[in-house]
Amino acid sequence: MYPLPGFLHKMGFRQYRLTITMPTKQPILSEYTPFQANVLQEPSVAYAYLHANPVHLCEEFEPPFYTLSRYADVSTALRDTQRFSSEFGQGPRFTPPAGMLSNPPQHTFFRALVQQAFTPRAIDAMSARVYRLAEELLAQRTPQSWDLHDDFAFPLPVIVISEMLGVPAEDLHLFKTWSDASVAAMGAEDPAAYAQPLADLAQYLRNAIADRRQHPGGDDLITGLVAARSEDGRGLEDEDILSVVTQLLVGGNETTTSLVTNAMWRLLAHPAMWSRMCADPQRLIPVAIEESLRFDPPVLGLYRNTTEAVSLHGVTIPANCKVMLHYAAANRDPEVYDHADVFSLDRPAQRHLAFGLGVHFCLGAQLARLEATACLSALARLCPHLKLNGPSTRITPFFLWGRRTLPVCEQQPTA
Ligand code: HEM
Repeated sequence: MYPLPGFLHKMGFRQYRLTITMPTKQPILSEYTPFQANVLQEPSVAYAYLHANPVHLCEEFEPPFYTLSRYADVSTALRDTQRFSSEFGQGPRFTPPAGMLSNPPQHTFFRALVQQAFTPRAIDAMSARVYRLAEELLAQRTPQSWDLHDDFAFPLPVIVISEMLGVPAEDLHLFKTWSDASVAAMGAEDPAAYAQPLADLAQYLRNAIADRRQHPGGDDLITGLVAARSEDGRGLEDEDILSVVTQLLVGGNETTTSLVTNAMWRLLAHPAMWSRMCADPQRLIPVAIEESLRFDPPVLGLYRNTTEAVSLHGVTIPANCKVMLHYAAANRDPEVYDHADVFSLDRPAQRHLAFGLGVHFCLGAQLARLEATACLSALARLCPHLKLNGPSTRITPFFLWGRRTLPVCEQQPTA
């Protein structure tokens, strides 16, 4: 227990216990790039270095970019859309303004229309289907040896978003290929290698949009986007809808998969924690999900570009530079979180930046939480004896974080 000073008690703060189950000390790096092997393998080895160098310039990428890593700086920049603009994309390269990858007022217009499909009521209405899907996927596993990524955490969000978009089941595999290509293109210095799958995705969506314009009346998301109107009666052009749907695929698939794999990877690494969660799922699944989002955010950081020179901690970032806002490092800022490097089911609820902040706050956060809750609930109910079964690998884009493979097996306790 950490004793609380008396005045905090009087203010209503309660004592809490953090169960320390993760290594707390990371070696401090003497240098850093996000592309170093040890940083790719475990990004958190760099956070103490980044916090000590709070405006870091990475020259190993074209274009070079700055990184902000302290909670206060990242959250201030996220709120400051005037100086930290989203106009040229959320990735490390400059890309043309499109859809919600923009600033107010364009962003406000798009977001208001797309939000119509993501109301709490709309997400609630999907709940039973998502829970059923998680159980159906698990029913197909081979308990002796299976992969929690390939067999479970990857198909679920792709099926959910494809069903939302009204994509026929036989085209699901195309959507996975396309969403992977879109994410890889976003992080690549030269995205030309992904031009063909992206062109195929665009053509597929153009056909789907044309179909919905001819046959309105469905209840899928593309029909909703075709029909959506702002207060003054304006709607979305085909190319706008294309950009929005692509953003939903990029933003919503691999990230949700990573939330599930990251949470399970940490929990299964500490079997006592996993058993504890299985014994009290109602209470501890939401706690495990929020702690995983804080500790292992699936998006390590996204980018803004400076519209003017910005001086911070004695460093001047020139105008028109890409700046990575490092959510993951901010989520481990010791100024904000006690024992920031500890993964704990006893942490009191505290805001994290895994879904961003401000006007671009993740539109799919409630959907992601629903999907992760359904996945962890099904796993706790149907596979309480789950164990890690060998080493896992990470996904490749350097600014994302999740398991690409997560081999597991189930072992009944011996009588
Ligand atoms: C665990 C899963 C997820 C994580 C970690 C995540 C993370 C994020 C983050 C950090 C942002 C902020 C972007 C910025 O500030 O530039 C964002 C925005 C966004 N996310 Fe998510 N996301 C997740 C799931 C989803 C899902 C399931 C969807 C939809 C199907 C989605 C759709 C979006 C959209 C459309 C935006 C842009 C919002 C805007 O610019 O106004 N996300 N997400």
